[in-house]
Amino acid sequence: MEKRVKRHIKASSHEFFAATQPGLEHLCLKELAGLGLAGPDARILAGGVAFSGKLPDLYKAALFMHTPNRLLMRIGAFTATDFGSLSAKVAAIAWELYLPESLPINIRVSCRKSRLYHSDAVAQRVREAIFERMASIRPDWGKPDEKSGVQEIFVRLQSDRFTVSIDASGELMHKRGATAGKAKAPLRETLAASILHLSNWHPGLPLADPLCGSGSFSVEAAFWAKRVPPGAMRDFSFFCWPAFSKKTWEHLKKMAKEQESLFSSPVIFASDKDGPACQALAERLKALNLDDAASVTKKDFFALTPPCGQPGLVVINPPYGRRLMDEKKAKDLFERICKRLATHWQGWQFALLVPQKSWLALAPPGQIKPAILHGGLRIIPVVGRVE
Ligand SMILES: C[S@@+](CC[C@H](N)C(=O)[O-])C[C@H]1O[C@@H](n2cnc3c(N)ncnc32)[C@H](O)[C@@H]1O
Repeated sequence: MEKRVKRHIKASSHEFFAATQPGLEHLCLKELAGLGLAGPDARILAGGVAFSGKLPDLYKAALFMHTPNRLLMRIGAFTATDFGSLSAKVAAIAWELYLPESLPINIRVSCRKSRLYHSDAVAQRVREAIFERMASIRPDWGKPDEKSGVQEIFVRLQSDRFTVSIDASGELMHKRGATAGKAKAPLRETLAASILHLSNWHPGLPLADPLCGSGSFSVEAAFWAKRVPPGAMRDFSFFCWPAFSKKTWEHLKKMAKEQESLFSSPVIFASDKDGPACQALAERLKALNLDDAASVTKKDFFALTPPCGQPGLVVINPPYGRRLMDEKKAKDLFERICKRLATHWQGWQFALLVPQKSWLALAPPGQIKPAILHGGLRIIPVVGRVE
């Protein structure tokens, strides 16, 4: 078994998939390229980027990437138009080389334009075929031990073509394993990082986050500026795979640690009028060792002046949505924020998340980016420079 895992999994190249929100795939590809992981066959597909490499390349993506929601490893692709051939082809996959010893599996199926269209029935057949194969090879398999979690298996069926993948991430990747923020309506870390990429922010540029809330922008920017890998403090489901090499993972983390930068003064300036949110963010930054790169101040945006020195990027995710305030109040506040930007932030680049299409006319002129989904709303990022 060990030899087979070595030959077929460790020594072989695989296809991986970094899943992201539709519309943000190009950012994901850019990140992969920056890590040297976008080989000639790396390509954008709907909802993510396919790339290939060996397992350490997957570890690298998990450790260093900011924008994907999830990482998958493709383990099978075939055509099937009836349940008989589906079962046979699923049973032909060498599941014993991929599946963890003692995690339950969960099968997620999507079917489109195919003769087999009933996703629950497909999931049932896939499950049975996996159990049949595993029972004959590893009779003890699948009995959960004290470890919590589940190994997700994704089955995608499009025009009778099946793609079978196993989830490499476990929890979604916006969970950085760090203490979560405590403010209302936090932006997912993966989205905050994507907005920073969309705005062409880089660590040489000061960042102001004046309605910081839980601080997703500031924490992501601080990870980036300090070159702290966002995946270093969490677990991934590939930790339980038979081919996982803890030694390689630890080595990558050690190399990353040696690359971390220290700051003599902050380049990221978070503020909010909400004292407890500021306090929680300051504690979070300290716990993550990011507090040399990012500072937090309790301050009302309408009393705040830009940090002195070189103009940078100001990022704003204003309050909105029924949970936070009524629409008229939210719109008035949004309008005041835009006016304040125009009068006090000249020379700064801005990234503003506009919660409603009809409010775009209030925003400073800039590039309107494709909408992103956040908290069930379609938010439109606008990026530009305050003239
Ligand atoms: C939608 S939340 C921001 C979410 C944040 N991006 C995150 O990831 O947690 C809006 C924030 O704006 C803050 N806020 C509202 N009015 C403000 C003002 N006048 N000055 C500063 N902060 C304000 C609220 O306290 C809240 O934390």
